[in-house]
Amino acid sequence: MGNSPDLLSGDLFGGVGDEAMLGDGAVILRGFVSGDAALMAAVLAVTTQAPLRHMITPGGFAMSVATTSCGALGWLSDRSGYRYGALDPNSGRPWPPMPDIFRALAQSAAARAGFPGFQPDACLINRYVPGTRLTLHQDKNERDFLSPIVSVSLGIPAVFLFGGLTRTDKTSRIGLFHGDVVVWGGPSRLRYHGILPLKPAEHPLTGACRINLTFRHAG
Ligand code: SIN
Ligand code: FE2
Repeated sequence: MGNSPDLLSGDLFGGVGDEAMLGDGAVILRGFVSGDAALMAAVLAVTTQAPLRHMITPGGFAMSVATTSCGALGWLSDRSGYRYGALDPNSGRPWPPMPDIFRALAQSAAARAGFPGFQPDACLINRYVPGTRLTLHQDKNERDFLSPIVSVSLGIPAVFLFGGLTRTDKTSRIGLFHGDVVVWGGPSRLRYHGILPLKPAEHPLTGACRINLTFRHAG
């Protein structure tokens, strides 16, 4: 995958990998990420200010995925439910601003997938270690369902479950590898999705974990 020299040439993202339609409004952009070392540096900067933590689900369990956020709004879960908020509950301060390199990546992936003008105001950062999973769910706490979801995979591989508009619809299994970006919007915006338990692996940039960046227009 590309690395930081791409940043200097102005050729930040895209143009190298395969693309495949996952449905109406849903696309996987294989290997779309370049400048991955700079992205990881930005992840580190955000997670230093707003550390990854295991939020509590409405049912009272600690999530196995560790999360944090950047941007005007951050994703929250606790006993009272899922929602977005402007403050990190751990610090009482606003979430760190969204790094420009994050916004540029999300916007260029969205445009490539047919959603020009995407203005993400929330980036959820998920960290998965081997054995961690994310059960099937819809992203539906955002106010805006016209904007797509842009999901960036970094580090060790995972298997993405991509279902339909009801929980019981058949799901497809899609391997997600370092640098892949999945975009779902339009008629696919509310499709159920999840991540199967990760297998142990190592990646030179992340070590034994997977980092997922999920961009939304939430507010
Ligand atoms: C999510 O649904 O929030 C994350 C999906 C992923 O980790 O790829
Ligand atoms: Fe999701």
